[in-house]
Amino acid sequence: MRVLSGIQPTGRFHWGNYFGAIKQYIELQHEHDGYYFIADLHALTTIREPAEIRANVKDAALDLLALGLNPDKATLFVQSHIPEVSELYWILMTGTPLGLLERCVAFKDKEARGIKADAGLFTYPVLMAADILAYDSQCVPVGEDQNQHIEVCRDLARSFNAHYGETFVMPSARIVKDTAKVPGTDGQKMSKSYGNTLGLFEDAKELRKKIMRIKTDLRPMEDAKDPDTDHLYQLYSLFASDEQREEVRALYLKGGFGYGDIKKRLADAADVFLNPLRERRAVLASDEAYVARALDQGAQRARKVAREVLDRVQKACGIK
Ligand code: TYM
Repeated sequence: MRVLSGIQPTGRFHWGNYFGAIKQYIELQHEHDGYYFIADLHALTTIREPAEIRANVKDAALDLLALGLNPDKATLFVQSHIPEVSELYWILMTGTPLGLLERCVAFKDKEARGIKADAGLFTYPVLMAADILAYDSQCVPVGEDQNQHIEVCRDLARSFNAHYGETFVMPSARIVKDTAKVPGTDGQKMSKSYGNTLGLFEDAKELRKKIMRIKTDLRPMEDAKDPDTDHLYQLYSLFASDEQREEVRALYLKGGFGYGDIKKRLADAADVFLNPLRERRAVLASDEAYVARALDQGAQRARKVAREVLDRVQKACGIK
């Protein structure tokens, strides 16, 4: 099965990125044909500082490798290294109803927060559809916030196929229920744009401080609490063993505990998980040639597939 997903290099990756998406990439690379890319073209909709984009792409590659993406198993590449995708984007744009894009929440959300929308932001889901369709992807592991975009992709593929004949493979989203929407420090969805993230490779001391500042309610310690609606418990569950999780769950249901204690447990569990990753990243960071080779090799493999698909598409619509 061809699995594909992308991630924007708009800042350092956070727990939501990992548990919602990257963890799936890594698990799926063993059994399936994985294509994973750093979405630098998408990032241009928010970052217009060349040095920043360049540094972020490098960091993103290092992070993904340190987290366990294996470039000999999966194809890891940078979105803009495959120009065929941008041509496919244009072809798809010609069949995209405006209303479909107007309904997309990511765009509506940014607009509502006063971010001036340009055409790139508005047509963002069409580029995402090109990303997916260019590689005959069948399965797209993502967090819940990307589901609507994948529906747009399916709509575009369906209408292209209906008009020009069977050309595109129909992809499906793969969303893991328990980690589809990882909460941030304020209980809302963890997101760079909400400023509520906990970073994967953040300085350990800073991270602990942020964890200790996670927002909690003011109910008395003795009160029993529902773990299933509590974001601190949800965050703890990401790292805890089954046994640890059950122990904390019982505390919630019984009452008589302080949130400070749970935060300390969370910080300790996160450290146990993140320390070896930090070490692996430091080793990789000293081997620039390895990272560059991985991305080159990935781009070559990805480009071959995208070229074949684009040929098929051009033929279908009569421009070849
Ligand atoms: P991006 O860069 O915002 O996020 C990368 C991945 O992380 C997931 N994610 C989360 N999952 C659970 N809980 C959270 N709090 C959380 N925050 C982020 C996202 O759902 C995503 O899977 N448009 C995409 C990038 C992209 C793409 C594609 C993805 C471009 N082309 C083609 C799939 C296929 C984006 O901005 O993701």
